[in-house]
Amino acid sequence: MVESKIRVFDFLASDYDAWFEKEGRLIFASEVEALRQALPLLPKPWIEVGVGSGRFAQALGADIGLDPSSKLLEMARYRGVSVFLARGEEMPFKDGVFGTIFFVVTLCFVDSPRRTLGEAARLLRTGGKVVLGMVLRESPWGQLYRGEKQRGHRFYSHAMFYDYDEVGMFLGQIGFSIEKVISTLFQSPGGVNHIEPPRQGFSADAGFTVILAGKTTG
Ligand SMILES: C[S@@+](CC[C@H](N)C(=O)[O-])C[C@H]1O[C@@H](n2cnc3c(N)ncnc32)[C@H](O)[C@@H]1O
Repeated sequence: MVESKIRVFDFLASDYDAWFEKEGRLIFASEVEALRQALPLLPKPWIEVGVGSGRFAQALGADIGLDPSSKLLEMARYRGVSVFLARGEEMPFKDGVFGTIFFVVTLCFVDSPRRTLGEAARLLRTGGKVVLGMVLRESPWGQLYRGEKQRGHRFYSHAMFYDYDEVGMFLGQIGFSIEKVISTLFQSPGGVNHIEPPRQGFSADAGFTVILAGKTTG
């Protein structure tokens, strides 16, 4: 299961990365706008876990990235990211070395969100933050992708979509507390025709939700 997922991202790395300049262009720009709202609150150093081809890391200024796909990491390195080949469940860093850890459309692809967030808690120093960029299960986009997953979509068949309360529960169990939520992509899937200004707070109608949570335990 784990290996097959990594192979998919390796095998389809070029297609994955090309999406950002085609149908994904306005979606990506709207998501970056939403993530940027969180940046002033985030202590350094920053790492993106599940960095993929490095598009978000580059746009946000995260100069370290980790991913199990070597093909995607080659692209991230080309975009100026210092890369580490590993899974989020077992990261090759000492305790307390990071200020902020980003997961952008990655928590739905890891094998264990609890273990991955537990690792994030270990790697963060006191006062550290996680920033989750999520397609939530109940959103119109989440419903579409779940349908595509059932029809065997090459990427989404490997994803698990979570709802807002489940993500809050994972975070709470591990010792994170949600501090800020930003929503975007209120346009319908297939009908995106402009870059959206982000809105504050959670909305079940948003296609992309940014959840900023702080580490509450030492
Ligand atoms: C949808 S992509 C998101 C990539 C990047 N954050 C972006 O938004 O372009 C999901 C990423 O999760 C990575 N991934 C899959 N399993 C993982 C795991 N166990 N730990 C960390 N990353 C994983 C994949 O290799 C892929 O790069």
